[in-house]
Amino acid sequence: MTKPEKTLVISPIQRGTVIDHITPGEGLTVINILGITRGTGVTVTVACNVESSRGGRKDLVKIADRELLKEEVDKIALVAPDATISIIRDYRVVDKKTVSVPQEIVGVITCPNPNCITNTKEPVPTRFAAQTRGFRCRYCDTVISLDKDIGNYI
Ligand SMILES: Nc1ncnc2c1ncn2[C@@H]1O[C@H](COP(=O)(O)OP(=O)(O)OP(=O)(O)O)[C@@H](O)[C@H]1O
Ligand SMILES: [Mg+2]
Ligand SMILES: [Zn+2]
Repeated sequence: MTKPEKTLVISPIQRGTVIDHITPGEGLTVINILGITRGTGVTVTVACNVESSRGGRKDLVKIADRELLKEEVDKIALVAPDATISIIRDYRVVDKKTVSVPQEIVGVITCPNPNCITNTKEPVPTRFAAQTRGFRCRYCDTVISLDKDIGNYI
């Protein structure tokens, strides 16, 4: 049998949000960021490590009847800097955005260093500087590498 020209990996949704071009392996992190756990009643489909039209592989998340908060989009950017976020209404893409990683991320990432001032009894908000493939704590210089599961620290 010949391979079909193009197939939809996941069936269309009438209304909701598509997060496409997620870094392979981070689709489930995105689900966690959105707080989707069992029992939430959210209709969500996840595709992991599928072929991307842009070449290479990607993860993909489609959520019915939900739009994302800015705070959620900003967290997704940290684990999937190439992600696109499309709003679907009436089966069509009505809005599509890329995500962006700010130069400084305040109060979102937890510093992995237990002795960091941000982890003491009177904590100060965390501040991380974005750098190539990772984030550096402004207080103790601990670096969380993007490849080393930033998802554990947000
Ligand atoms: N009704 C729908 N239900 C579910 N997903 C949809 C629907 N319409 C579009 N999508 C998905 O939304 C994303 C953005 O749609 P678009 O048509 O812009 O895709 P595209 O042309 O492949 O763009 P890109 O170059 O970003 O891959 C894609 O992942 C597409 O599969
Ligand atoms: Mg595409
Ligand atoms: Zn620190």
